[in-house]
Amino acid sequence: MKILVLNGVNLNLTGLREKGVYGVETLEEINTKIATYCKAGGDEVDFAQSNIEGVLVDKLHEAFLGKAYDGILLNAGAFTHYSYALRDAIAAMDIPVVEVHMSNVHAREAFRHTSVISEVCKGTVCGFGAGSYIAAVEGLRCLLK
Ligand code: DQA
Repeated sequence: MKILVLNGVNLNLTGLREKGVYGVETLEEINTKIATYCKAGGDEVDFAQSNIEGVLVDKLHEAFLGKAYDGILLNAGAFTHYSYALRDAIAAMDIPVVEVHMSNVHAREAFRHTSVISEVCKGTVCGFGAGSYIAAVEGLRCLLK
C-alpha cells in the first residue's frame, strides 16, 4: 500500500517546540522512522507538511484526484480543532484518512478536546508521541490489507 503522511500547522517545529509535550525528535527524524517502518512492512510512504490550511486542502485534493495513495495519515495540528475546510476536504476523499496526534489531546486544554475532523476520519490515534504515526500505519494496514 502507499501512504501519504500529511502534517499541518507548526508540526515543522517538532523537536524544537514544547519538548515536554511533543518530544525531542525532529519531524525529519520522525519521518525517517515512519519510512523505515513502512518499508519493513512492504509499504511505500510520502511526506508533506504545511502551515497553510489551503495547501493542506490542495494536498488532499491531489491525493483524491491523483489516486496515488491508499490511505492518508493526517496530523492537522491546531487546524484539527476548527478547520471546516479540512473537514470538508476529508469528507470528499474516497480513501481512508486517519487522524493522528502525538500528544493526548483529551488530557490537555479544553479547546483540544474538540476535533472537527474526527467524524470524517476513519479513526484517531493520539498520545503515543511519534509512535502515534506508527500505530496509525498499523491501523491503515488493518483496514486495507
Ligand atoms: C497536535 C495536537 C494539537 O492540539 C496541536 O495544536 C498540535 C499538535 C499533536 O500532534 O499532539 O499542533 O496535533
